[in-house]
Amino acid sequence: MSSNSRKLIAVIGATGQQGGAVMRALQAQGQFKVRALTRNPGKHRELADEVVEADLDRPETLKAAFAGAHGVFLVTNFWEPGTDELKQATAAVRAAKAAGVKHFVWSTLPDVEAISGGKLHVPHFTGKAKIDRIVREAGFAHHTFVIAPFFYQNLAGVLAPQKQEDGTLGWALPIDPTVRGIHMGDIRELGNIVAGAFAHPDQAGNGQYLPLVGDFMSFNEIVDTLNRQGHEVSFKRVPKEVFATSFPGAAEIAATLAYFQAHTYLGSDSRDRIALANKVAGRRPTQFSTWARVDLPVHASA
Ligand SMILES: NC(=O)c1ccc[n+]([C@@H]2O[C@H](COP(=O)([O-])OP(=O)(O)OC[C@H]3O[C@@H](n4cnc5c(N)ncnc54)[C@H](OP(=O)(O)O)[C@@H]3O)[C@@H](O)[C@H]2O)c1
Repeated sequence: MSSNSRKLIAVIGATGQQGGAVMRALQAQGQFKVRALTRNPGKHRELADEVVEADLDRPETLKAAFAGAHGVFLVTNFWEPGTDELKQATAAVRAAKAAGVKHFVWSTLPDVEAISGGKLHVPHFTGKAKIDRIVREAGFAHHTFVIAPFFYQNLAGVLAPQKQEDGTLGWALPIDPTVRGIHMGDIRELGNIVAGAFAHPDQAGNGQYLPLVGDFMSFNEIVDTLNRQGHEVSFKRVPKEVFATSFPGAAEIAATLAYFQAHTYLGSDSRDRIALANKVAGRRPTQFSTWARVDLPVHASA
């Protein structure tokens, strides 16, 4: 198909991990034209067929960002200071509807408030889940929910093993390391699911939930996997109350880990959803041991 007749997908977060993955998968698939959206198009000219400004905090930018688009991928960044995910997503849904977008894909997370009966507060999960209804009720011809996993990449970045008091390298976290509760994955593979959903709206465009899951593990299994590959990492369980006050944002992480332990990351039996996600993506996601061998080599934690 010539590039002019291909339908256009506009990708929010194109300079980031999730949106970047979506953009690269769409480019590799070749069925759609891609418009990368960023607050700084001047800095990222080479990203895609088109690079256009979009700032979710300035809804007036979204009209041009979504103009002529068949599909939109939306991710919001809870961790960016000042972000109001509900306000941003509402603006994006409204602008996409006004632009005549046919297929809207929203990167959501489970509703921890509902799953835990109001006991656990994890705003970066629940805040996203509350947006699902807005997407569902907007009346797009097609809409899809994708669920990003606990990124393997966290273990090489924000949650990389740290030097412990006893001199070992490892984790001191408020979670029972024997409990298998973490649905994990290589976030670069989220794009295969999203590109598959845009290509197969019949299978995945009627409000389906598509989680990316490469592995489902406990912290002991993570540690054992790494140590079998030559690492020497340790795990120590620490009390939630102590951890929660140890650095800014720690309370949020402590609550998240308490949720994984009590209910698992996805919060419910998701085998059918995972199977559909893999079918739509056309492949099984990479397992943790395979990812770690390449992306968390032994010298990186030595
Ligand atoms: N880490 C995990 O394990 C995990 C698991 C599940 C879900 N998540 C969720 O992932 C989200 C972050 O996604 P990510 O990791 O892909 O982010 P990232 O790599 O940190 O990149 C953030 C992206 O958001 C864009 N952005 C930020 N504010 C924006 C705004 N006002 N308007 C338009 N674009 C904006 C940035 O674009 P520009 O700077 O180019 O404008 C950038 O592309 C968070 O909400 C988090 O809760 C994380």
